[in-house]
This record gives sequence, C-alpha cells and structure tokens, in this order.
Amino acid sequence: MNTIDPRHRRPQRIAVLAGDGIGRDVTAEAVKVLAAAGERWALPLELVALPWSAEHYLATGETLPPGGIATLRDEYAAVLVGAFGDPRVPDMRHAAEILLGARFGLDLYINFRPCRLYDARLCPLKGKRERDVDFVIFRENTEGAYVGLGGNFKKGMPDEVAVQEEVHTRKGVERIVRAAFDWARAHGRRRLCMADKSNVMRFGHGLWQRVFAAVREEYPEIEASHMFVDALAMQLVRAPERFDVIVTDNLIGDILSDIGAALQGGLGVAASANLHPGRTSLFEPVHGSAPKYAGTGLANPVAAILSVALMLETLGHETAARVVEGAVVQSLRKGRTTPDLGGTLTTSEVGDWLARRVAAAPVS
Ligand code: NAD
Ligand code: IPM
Ligand code: MN
Repeated sequence: MNTIDPRHRRPQRIAVLAGDGIGRDVTAEAVKVLAAAGERWALPLELVALPWSAEHYLATGETLPPGGIATLRDEYAAVLVGAFGDPRVPDMRHAAEILLGARFGLDLYINFRPCRLYDARLCPLKGKRERDVDFVIFRENTEGAYVGLGGNFKKGMPDEVAVQEEVHTRKGVERIVRAAFDWARAHGRRRLCMADKSNVMRFGHGLWQRVFAAVREEYPEIEASHMFVDALAMQLVRAPERFDVIVTDNLIGDILSDIGAALQGGLGVAASANLHPGRTSLFEPVHGSAPKYAGTGLANPVAAILSVALMLETLGHETAARVVEGAVVQSLRKGRTTPDLGGTLTTSEVGDWLARRVAAAPVS
C-alpha cells in the first residue's frame, strides 16, 4: 500500500482529464496557464493527459481502466477535470464512473466552491458591489442523494415505482461541518450558515441539525446560523452580503453553487476544488460540457483557470496561485473576455492573454 503523501512527492504529477464538449476547450486553456505558471516559478509539476471521456468510452467500451481511481490516488498529486456529458451517452455512465467515481473513490468529502464577484459589472443583481458577493459553499461530496441507492419496480409500466435513497452519516456530516468551521476560523470569516430541509427530511437532515448544534459549540467566535434551503436560496439573491460560509449537503450544494455562479458572472467564472486534506485532490469548473458550444470558441475558460489557481494553492504554490487569480481579475476588469461576459475574445484568446500575463509576472 502506498503510504507516501503524493503531495510531498517531487515532481507533483497532475492528471489532466479534459473530458467532453467544452471541457476540452477550457482545459486546453487551463493547461496553457498552468504551464506558464510552472515555467515562471520553476514548479515541479508534471502534467499527464488521460483520455477518459465519452469519446474514449464510445470507442473502447471502457469508462476507466481497471484500477484507474487507485492510480490517481497513488501516482498523482492532483487531477484537473474539464467536464463530462455527451448526448451520445444519455445515462452519463462515464461521468458517474469517472467524476463521481473519483469523488467517492478518493473520498474527496469537501467540495469547496468559492463565489466571488471580481467585477461589479458582472453581477446580475442591482446595486451590488464586489464586496457584497464573497462567500464559499462547503458542499458535502461523498454521500446524500449521490450515493446511487435505489431502484425501479415495474419499470415502464403505468404503475411504475422509483425509489431513490439519500444517505447521511454522522461521520460524513461531522467532517464537512468541521471543515467549514475550520476554514472560516483560518480565514477570519465571521458567519457560517448551515442549509438543509430538516423541516421535511426529518431523518437525514435531522442528523445534520444535531451534528451542527454540537460542532458549533466548539467555534464560539463564529456566528453560526441555520436556514432552510428554500429561504436561503431567496436570501442569496436578495442579500448575498449576508453570507461568508455556507455548509450543506451534496444535492443542495450542487444547486446553490449554480446560484452562486450566477451572482459572480455566470458558470463561465465559477471554480471548484474537491478535497480531502493530505490526499490527491480534484479541481474542475462548476459548469458542464455545454455540448452546443463545443469547439465554437465561445466557452469561457476562466472557471477552469480559476480552478487551476485553487490547485496551485492546494499544492503549496501560493504566489503562482495569487498571480493566476490576479491575471483573471485584470482580464475581467479590462473586458478581455468571451461573449458570455460581454467581450469579443475567443476561448483560446482569453487563455493566451492570461498565459502571457502569468509568464510576465514578477517571480515573487
Ligand atoms: P452546462 O454547465 O454545461 O451549461 C449550461 C449553460 O451555461 C450553457 O448552455 C451556457 O450557456 C453556460 N455555460 C456553461 N459553461 C460555460 C462556459 N465555460 N462559458 C460560457 N458559457 C457557459 O450545463 P447543462 O447544459 O445543464 O449540462 C450539459 C452537460 O454537462 C450535461 O450532460 C450535464 O450532465 C453535464 N454537466 C457536467 C458537469 C461536470 O462535469 N462537472 C457539471 C454540470 C453539468
Ligand atoms: C457539478 C455537476 C455534477 C454534480 C454532475 C455532472 C454529476 O453538476 O459538479 O456540479 O451534480 O455534482
Ligand atoms: Mn452542478
């Protein structure tokens, strides 16, 4: 068994899974920027492209090779993902096995989804400034509605029954709630809100309530609150400035993070990190494969590039991470963007522009 923390190995190997649709387009730009940062700061990064995608599945019948997730765990420090989803694979089998397979198989229990407005012009809400949208969603990433437990009875018949189970464990809830509080404490964030639907989901979300009540006692300096998710969804678009850290379950976190993306300028900007501290981690834009935009040059690569910044930070390359993020902020403020943000650049022109800024940045 591998006992060496891959994060401490040199070189740090990074698996690049561009995936499907615009995932390929934006990942090409993310790799350009990552390579520029690697060169600028002489980072010990080794990028390895893996073909796992719908195309590969359709051509070979294989989603992942046998032991694929164990290889990521043992041989890679991080994984960079584009997106999965292809109309030719309607059941999303490859996405379930690769993306959810990695989240579950690597036990990446934190889906860290920062939501930050870099330029007030990009916010669809009236009168909001940059500082009004600056929160992080801690989405539980290994259980809830995503466990795939359930089944169909009398499938296709008029009286068909479908059962889809959720799973919430004390360990699973406690570790994500604790991760959110610890992050808030380490980053000087004062407010933490837990969102659930415990008024209806008495058992699963009742457990969230009880765990949250116990854990919050250990963080007296943090103003902890609870909101039912319907009310919180409303508050997010009414007064996003009320939120610093939101912690919630897998499905609610998925939905809230697209609302969060809208507040910061859309899915073209929203980045994420799938983490289990000390282990191989996975970085990806929040958006999907948007098949109709694939290869058009319209896909915004910024979400993927901000995911690279999260990767650099996690791998210990703080300066490079800040420079990549700073270059993105400059591109947004100068309007050097794809059309979704009002600009006229193509996907690769944005990538080139950002890679040049990173390559020309002062080293320290
Ligand atoms: P999507 O995120 O792919 O696209 C929704 C819309 O958002 C697009 O039509 C486009 O208008 C906009 N958009 C998204 N990313 C953009 C970008 N980078 N630049 C500019 N505009 C962007 O969501 P969808 O259409 O619901 O799903 C398409 C496929 O992707 C489905 O198969 C879905 O299951 C999959 N999906 C995958 C992931 C993932 O791999 N992490 C995430 C979400 C959806
Ligand atoms: C996301 C996506 C995924 C999810 C899908 C593609 C499985 O929507 O990363 O937000 O639901 O987690
Ligand atoms: Mn999603």
